[in-house]
Amino acid sequence: MADRYANFANSGLGRTMVKRLGLPDPPRLRRHHAGDPLVSAPVLVGTTPGGRLAGPVGKLLAEAGVETADQLPDGVRVSALILDATGITDSAGLRAVYDFFHPYARKLQTSGRVIVLGTPPETTASPREATAQRSLEGLTRSIGKEFGHGTTAQLVHVAPGGEAAVASTLRFLLSGRSAYVSGQVIRVAAGDAPAPADWDRPLDGKLALVTGAARGIGAAIARVLARDGAEVIALDVPAAGDALADVANETRGRALQLDLTGADAPKRLAGYLAAGPRGGVDIVVHNAGITRDKTIARMSADRWDSVIGVNLTAPERVNELLLDRELIPSGGRIVGVASIAGIAGNRGQTNYATSKAGVIGMVQAYAPVLAGRGITVNAVAPGFIETAMTARMPLGLREAGRRLNSMSQGGLPVDVAETVAWLASPGSATVNGNVVRVCGQSLLGA
Ligand code: NAI
Repeated sequence: MADRYANFANSGLGRTMVKRLGLPDPPRLRRHHAGDPLVSAPVLVGTTPGGRLAGPVGKLLAEAGVETADQLPDGVRVSALILDATGITDSAGLRAVYDFFHPYARKLQTSGRVIVLGTPPETTASPREATAQRSLEGLTRSIGKEFGHGTTAQLVHVAPGGEAAVASTLRFLLSGRSAYVSGQVIRVAAGDAPAPADWDRPLDGKLALVTGAARGIGAAIARVLARDGAEVIALDVPAAGDALADVANETRGRALQLDLTGADAPKRLAGYLAAGPRGGVDIVVHNAGITRDKTIARMSADRWDSVIGVNLTAPERVNELLLDRELIPSGGRIVGVASIAGIAGNRGQTNYATSKAGVIGMVQAYAPVLAGRGITVNAVAPGFIETAMTARMPLGLREAGRRLNSMSQGGLPVDVAETVAWLASPGSATVNGNVVRVCGQSLLGA
């Protein structure tokens, strides 16, 4: 559904009124288009004494053809500010953060990027170092709220030994692919991650299953995974057959009509994948989901059961069978689609929020277990995304959902899809057990 206010605010008259009246100012976000460079201006990289990431980051930016600077002449704007904060070992050392951001806070382009690289507090050498590293979360979340103009800000915790595995995450965060991801703490674990032969097609040779792919976010995920090189199996209920066939044709993939809540659905799916040319599947995206909203006092048991059944029990059953039958090989990726309702809770959505918090629980429970098999399990947690689901919301709630975030606008299905594609990439081999919100830094649950 069109965001009429955002269109108006970006018109000539709208710009004047927004400024004069102090109204919400939704900027046009920079989104990725095929062939776009990662960034269109230099990136300023700062470091802290003893930091262990400025070197590897400088190297990967050079490989990506990104111009870097460690100081900025007057009048020049940068596309991103990256600070290697891994050298900070106590609270006095946090001054280095101020010294880096204070002079450059106004030097970012529209849709700029702020990335702070830190050490996971639990892997630090002392309580004071852990404390200082934890402090960085407050910094990045505040910058996300303060800088405006479509700027995103993230803290990336890179475990010692994970320095060589940050490329896919940094590329995602710098590019227009992460337009609606802000205020996140992303964890990159120790280990190596293979660089794809072609960063524009990192999923070449991979087979991906996307559930609920006939429309909305699922259709966008199918398109983006196909754009990135994957062969896509688009799954949805038989009633959505025509729309599903359109998505499958558009992505040159295959359509699979299946109601995931059917008693034998996981078995049929496993049989289909086992009989396919690859005898399995590399990427599984559990996107199918429904809402049946009512306060719990008014909710029928049917509404409770159907939401838990589609959103949580179906992914659980599918995972169990595909993993038991070893149909997801090493290098495999499982991505759940949660929701910020599963983090913040929502009035009238006890069933939905329970199911989506369950998706987060599933990811966190499986991630350490499957790491040994070379499979990662992560979730995206969308906020307000412009789809048929949110178009049905009452006007007041819809406007609140759109504006109560750092971007003053709803996200697009493609924003969720790009995030899924980053998690699915071979380069994200050590990004495991993360729940990444795609919510424009929504105030809900923040
Ligand atoms: P949608 O309603 O447009 O699409 C969901 C798809 O799932 C439909 O094509 C539907 O037929 C399919 N589906 C439902 N039950 C199924 C079943 N039993 N078996 C197979 N397929 C089934 O929803 P939308 O907005 O695209 O959402 C996609 C996912 O993102 C859902 O999991 C939703 O909960 C989640 N999400 C969406 C948000 C939004 O703002 N739109 C916010 C947060 C999360």
